[in-house]
Amino acid sequence: MQKNVKAAAMMLCLVCLFLFLLSNRDSRQEAVLPAAAVNENGPLIALTFDDGPYPNVTTHILDVLEEHDVCATFFVLGSRVAGREDVLLRMESLGCEIGNHTYSHADLTQLSAAQCAEEINKTNAEFERVLGHAAAVVRPPYGFYNATVRQNVPYPLVLWTVDTNDWKPRNTSELTEYVVQAAQEGSVILMHDQQDSTAEAMDAIIPELIAKGFRFVTVSELIAETGGACMAVKMPGDG
Ligand code: NI
Repeated sequence: MQKNVKAAAMMLCLVCLFLFLLSNRDSRQEAVLPAAAVNENGPLIALTFDDGPYPNVTTHILDVLEEHDVCATFFVLGSRVAGREDVLLRMESLGCEIGNHTYSHADLTQLSAAQCAEEINKTNAEFERVLGHAAAVVRPPYGFYNATVRQNVPYPLVLWTVDTNDWKPRNTSELTEYVVQAAQEGSVILMHDQQDSTAEAMDAIIPELIAKGFRFVTVSELIAETGGACMAVKMPGDG
């Protein structure tokens, strides 16, 4: 009988030791996590993804953004919203911005004033339907704009400072290296949520930019933080 009590006590001790080690391991992991958090005073960077959403690619990018608690801006085509409403809602729920990239990826410089306004307004109507509000920023396809576009698109026109040419499939490590070495204070990085290689590169690009101290902002946050004087943005009324 006494043997059984001893054995039970020994077993209880082992269970306690095991639970202690387990809880200790968890608290060590928790203590390490905040060290990887984004530097609150770091240089600003705006990652931008155009021409989507393409749910498989876009979802992978959103997963990486969520994992690291950082944001980006998606310049969405109005024609690609229907049937992909859940992707847009997730973008917003993660603190990402949705910008207007026209309805049909038109070269706005080839359109009349009325057609130009229609490309923007039809897209904003889709955003209103899904999100309850229009976009605050526009990226003209190909970066093309002229006086007619300026007059008929009364939004900040967002271009870019770094063109990754990732709309064609790219070697993932080359793309990663290119973005990480090109990133500077105030960079607006042009990418596309269209190719698997872009989404795969995000697995490395995001943690590497965080390690370099960058602070991720949306384009509207970049405009606000720089008082509209950021590179690559044409504000309405600018010369
Ligand atoms: Ni585009």
